[in-house]
Amino acid sequence: MPNNSPLLSKTEILKWLVENGFKKPLKLHLFSSIDSTNTYLKTLPISTEIEICCSETQTQGRGRLGRTWHSPSEENIYCSGRWRVKDLNKVSALSLVCSLAVIDVLKEFDITDLKIKWPNDILWNDKKLCGNLVELISENKNEYLAVIGIGLNVNSDTLKHSLPDKEWCSLYEITGIHHNRNQLISAIVCKLDSYLDKLWTYGFSIFLNEWEKYDYLKNNILEVKHHQTTIKGKACGITEQGNLILELENGARLNLNAGEVSLKK
Ligand code: BTN
Repeated sequence: MPNNSPLLSKTEILKWLVENGFKKPLKLHLFSSIDSTNTYLKTLPISTEIEICCSETQTQGRGRLGRTWHSPSEENIYCSGRWRVKDLNKVSALSLVCSLAVIDVLKEFDITDLKIKWPNDILWNDKKLCGNLVELISENKNEYLAVIGIGLNVNSDTLKHSLPDKEWCSLYEITGIHHNRNQLISAIVCKLDSYLDKLWTYGFSIFLNEWEKYDYLKNNILEVKHHQTTIKGKACGITEQGNLILELENGARLNLNAGEVSLKK
């Protein structure tokens, strides 16, 4: 099916934001090509508004752990937002909250059966649909901004392109239809902004029930690469700070705040 969905448009995204009832001061930066939307917001001068950057493609899209984020043009969402950090103790949950916000938006578009692989992968049928990259910049000793970048595969035809290193999928593969990225971006920005407010006010514990519904790892045996070592254990959910709880073979429990996880079948 030809992709007739519209190109990214500032007017459209802003129109949808108004439709979604978004009222905070926000600046939108839209590019047809850029190195990385996260990098752009990391180097943009400090401001008081929420800054959002989207691009049709990225020449140096970045994933977690130094990986490249494949960014075919005019097909998917490459979008970053910059928000003030209101509580440094809660930043380890930003990635998790971002995934929950994206899942909640996709539910409104009737896309279900999604799972989250801690800390940041949204999966469908064991294939990666979306990832996020959270980076902090410090304004001064006590004040930080968080750049949260979202890569969501929307209209890519997974049969046409293949990525050698990973099983991945797109909304097009899941639903058989092309989606309006302007509408999706504005819905995600609105939802993420309201989830961030909740996180700063109540902490991640308020999201734990929701997380449980989507936890891809729980009760599975994992290998986690963490600080040059590989740890094997059973995933036992996550803590109120958003750390992964791993039960080791001797029964001891470890809380991990970062790591590269793979399932042991
Ligand atoms: C991952 O799963 O490894 C994280 C992927 C994050 C990709 C997004 S695309 C928009 C933003 N800009 C980047 O360079 N990376 C993030």
